[in-house]
Parts: sequence; structure tokens; C-alpha cells
Amino acid sequence: MNSNIHIMDGVQSLRDVDVAGKRVLIRVDFNVPMDSHNNISDDRRIRMALPTINYCIDHNACSITLVSHFGRPKNGYEEKYSLRHIVKRLERLLHRNVEFIEDFSASRDEIATCSLERVFLLENIRFEAGEKTNSSELSERLASICDIYVNDAFGTSHRQHASTFGITKFIDTKVAGFLMIKEIEAFSKALEEPVRPIALVIGGAKISSKITLLTSVLQKIDKLIIGGAMSNTFLKALGYDMQNSLYEDDFVDTAKEIIEQTRQQGVKLYLPVDVVITDSIDHPIDIKVVPSQDILEGFGAVDIGPATVKLFSEAISLCNTIIWNGPMGIYEVDKFSRGTFKIANTIADSYAYTIVGGGDTADAVDKAREAENFSFISTGGGASLELLEGKILPGFENLNRKDRES
Ligand code: 3PG
Repeated sequence: MNSNIHIMDGVQSLRDVDVAGKRVLIRVDFNVPMDSHNNISDDRRIRMALPTINYCIDHNACSITLVSHFGRPKNGYEEKYSLRHIVKRLERLLHRNVEFIEDFSASRDEIATCSLERVFLLENIRFEAGEKTNSSELSERLASICDIYVNDAFGTSHRQHASTFGITKFIDTKVAGFLMIKEIEAFSKALEEPVRPIALVIGGAKISSKITLLTSVLQKIDKLIIGGAMSNTFLKALGYDMQNSLYEDDFVDTAKEIIEQTRQQGVKLYLPVDVVITDSIDHPIDIKVVPSQDILEGFGAVDIGPATVKLFSEAISLCNTIIWNGPMGIYEVDKFSRGTFKIANTIADSYAYTIVGGGDTADAVDKAREAENFSFISTGGGASLELLEGKILPGFENLNRKDRES
């Protein structure tokens, strides 16, 4: 794979600096899923940040300021995106008091003062106008409250924002947290030194969002297994009548090119041979399993069928490295979740090194109750996708390097 992981692998970690008596700012990704009553439905991202936070506490950091975004607020404060909603869970997991800072500007001087053993959590940094625009003013203001910057927000490391990127211009000591290192090491094992054969299992709704991955990955993999709505576009490219299935008309030619490239490069391509079809996604009355060529008029494909599960499972079980990104169908709807869950079971049961991109795929693995049985589940959806595409993630770019004086 066209991987730049070795570049990111060379950054210093928290272990390379002495935090004792220092003010540490940790950029975390606490962008956790929450229901309409502000209950956290999955706190994995918070739990994965604990080793870095606890390390700073245990090594006598003078103060720790946690900075995160939460959701995508449009224009300043929005109650539903307040990080206030996660304070209790964070306190429970850390077993200690966390001081929530509603107004960063007003509390700046207090946070900047070295005050032993205090842990602060800033309000959603995206309420600040300068975060997404990577403003120098906000970057400098954040840098002014710390001696050491630790980036542990892998899920946001593909963003060039003030707290993930801009801040590094204004601070000398900047390192990666343990989660960032863990993510890079996990992907490095799959991308830099994979035990072959290596399969990429890919799904989700759109080719368009994964086109760079599809085209950059072919030189490095042995098998390409495609499911989900994305496979509908490929089936369309084979000339099948997809009826009401979701597919991207504009990308049918791209799908044809990718099919041709797999042939030229000797990559084995697996597409659904049967599909679950329905007359309606929201109020299904009629659900059937049919060969991919025989989708009925007025029906659309919503999941891979049992023959496809068998085909994909046999192909997967012969691999020693499996990378999975994207569900096999509309897994959020019980009736259309079987294909995705069966593929989760198959990958989990394999003896391969198995790695899952974050986002929907991680959620599906959780729902299939297989999270414990994967080698690694990334906390980053978009970030892991960009990593697989061979990009250098901005969150790693300016951190101190092991091979250079910092
Ligand atoms: C994510 O959930 O993928 C990360 O937290 C990044 O969020 P964003 O896509 O809103 O930048």
C-alpha cells in the first residue's frame, strides 16, 4: 500500500518527555456518540485516552488541560454539543475531579497558572470561531496555557485545525499520546509489513468517498472484497439491473476502471453474488434474497445475501491480514444487518491480523459483539481512511521527531 506510516511512526511520544511540574495540554477526541437525552452510547474514545491522561497524572504533571471537539456546531455555542455532557463519565473513568471550563478566554489566566493536580476540560473547542479555520490567534492562546502539547486525538488527526495542527507552531515540546502511537503501530503492522495474503474488505454507501483508497490500494493487496451499497455501483458496471438500489450513476465508469485494474494487477475481486432486497427500507413489507442479477422491479438491495456471506467468508478465511472498512448493508436496521454481522463473525473467527476502520464499521463490530475478537479497532473513521489512502495525517506532521533534536 502506498503508505507513509513510517513518517508518522517517527514522532516522539509522551514517554520521551518529562512532564513532572509541567503544564500539559492534551488534545483528545471525545467526539462520542450520544442519544437525544445526552447519554453517551459508546465511551470507547474516552476510555482509549485514559492511558495518556493517567500517565500525566501519575508522573506529576503540574496541570492537565483536555481539549476536544464534539460534533459539528455551525456557529458558536449549541447546548447539544456541549462537552459538559461528558464530564461525569470522564470523572468516573478517571476516578477524580475534572474542572469544566465553560469560557476559555475568561479562565485563561487561571489555567495558565501552574496549579498542582488540577485537570481541566475545556468546552467544545469548535465553539471557538478560530478552531476550524486554524487561526493563529486561537493556536497561540492554546499554546500559552501549556509547556507540553500532547496530541492524542487520532480520530481528528486528519484535520488541520488550531488545536490539532496550528498550535504546534507556537510550542517547542509537542509529542504524540499513547493512543496516537497505538493507532499508528496497528496500521503499520497491516500496511508496512503485512503477512500475506492481505484482503481489503470494503463497504459503505459510496464509491465516491473511497475512490482514493480503492485506486491507491490495489498494488498492495491480494483480495478486494466489496459489499454494501458501494457494490451496487460495481454490479451496475457489470450490466446488472439494480432497480431501486442505491448506486452512483456518475461512478459506474470508475467502477468499470477499477474492475479492469484488478484484472491487470492480479488482485482477486469479490462482489455479491446474491443480495437481500426490499420494497421499502423504512416500512418493508416484502423482503427477499435473490441472485444479484435478478433484483425485482420496484425492489432495492440492502444487504449481502447468504451465498455472498459464504463466498466472502471463504475468501476471507484464507487471508492472514484483513483490513475492514465499511458495512455490508444497512446494518442499523435489524432486518438488513445479518450480512454485516456475519462478516464481522467471520473476520473475528479468522486467525489473521484483523484491523477495523473506525466510524460505522467499529460500531457494527460492537453491535455484533465481536469487538474483543479483532486485533485492533481504530478510533478514527475519516482518519483511518486517510491513513489507508497513504496520506500523512496533519496531526502528526509537526510533532517532535525521535530522529531529530527537538
Ligand atoms: C470523527 O468522529 O470522525 C472525528 O471526531 C472527526 O470529526 P469531524 O469529521 O467532525 O472532524
